[in-house]
Amino acid sequence: MLNVNNLTVQLGGREIISSISLSVAPGKTLAVLGESGAGKSTLVGAILGLLRASSGQISWAGKPIERGKAALVMQEPRSAFNPRLPLRRSVLEPLYAGKLPDDPARLERLCKGLEIDPNMLDRLPYQVSIGQAQRAGVLRALIASPPLILFDEPLSALDAVTQKHTAKLISTLQQEEGFAALIVTHDMGYAAAHADSIAVLRSGHIEEMATAENFFRSPQSQYGQDLLNAAVSLGAIERAVI
Ligand SMILES: Nc1ncnc2c1ncn2[C@@H]1O[C@H](COP(=O)(O)OP(=O)(O)O)[C@@H](O)[C@H]1O
Ligand SMILES: [Mg+2]
Repeated sequence: MLNVNNLTVQLGGREIISSISLSVAPGKTLAVLGESGAGKSTLVGAILGLLRASSGQISWAGKPIERGKAALVMQEPRSAFNPRLPLRRSVLEPLYAGKLPDDPARLERLCKGLEIDPNMLDRLPYQVSIGQAQRAGVLRALIASPPLILFDEPLSALDAVTQKHTAKLISTLQQEEGFAALIVTHDMGYAAAHADSIAVLRSGHIEEMATAENFFRSPQSQYGQDLLNAAVSLGAIERAVI
C-alpha cells in the first residue's frame, strides 16, 4: 500500500504541495484531478523521490519506496526518454535495472495492447510521434510488473480510440497483476470508468477526497462540482452520474 502522510514540497521558495495525505492499496486506482498548475506533477515527482519533500512521509508497505518498486509514466512523452538511445533500450531498462530476464511474450502482448509496432522500438525518440512516445512510456512502466505505477496524464497525446484501448490494457493488467495506480488525468470519463477513488487537487491542497462512486454521484466541494459539470457539458462522461 502506498501511504503519503502530510507531504509538503517547496520549490523556488514557494509551497507547491501543502500537507497532502493519501493512500492507494494494491489493485486500486486513485485518480488525481485538478487544473493545470495545481501541483499534480510535483506531487508525483515527490512521491517517487525525484523532488525533495520539505516534510512528510512516503512509504510502500511501511518502508521507503525502493528502486524498481515504482514506475512512472511522465507527462512529457518525448523528454521521458534518453534522446540518444533507441526506444527499445529505454523501454527494457526496468528489466536490466532489476536484473530481470527478457520476456519476449510479455513484450509482444504489451506492444499489441498498446498498438505499438515492435519495429518502432528501434527508432530514436525524436523519430516517433508524440502519441507513439507516450505509448512507449506506458510500455516501459508496465514491462517489469512493478507493484506501484504513477501515471502523469498518460493518455493525453492519444486519439480517442487508442486512449480507450490503452486504458483497457492498463485495467486488464491491473486486474491480473494487482499493481496500485495513481493516475493524474483531465479525463473525467477515464476517472469515472477506472478509478476507485478521486483526489481533487487545487493550489497544492487536496480540495476533496472521495470514493469514485461518491464523487461522481455528488462532489462535496464546489471545485469538484465545477470540474464535473464542465466534463458533463463536454459530453466526456458516458455513464449517468445524476
Ligand atoms: N522547479 C520548479 N521551481 C519552481 N516552481 C515550480 C517548479 N516546478 C513546478 N513549479 C510550479 O509549481 C506549480 C505546480 O506545477 P505542476 O506540479 O507542474 O502542476 P500540474 O502538474 O498540476 O500542472 C506551478 O505553479 C509551477 O510553476
Ligand atoms: Mg503536470
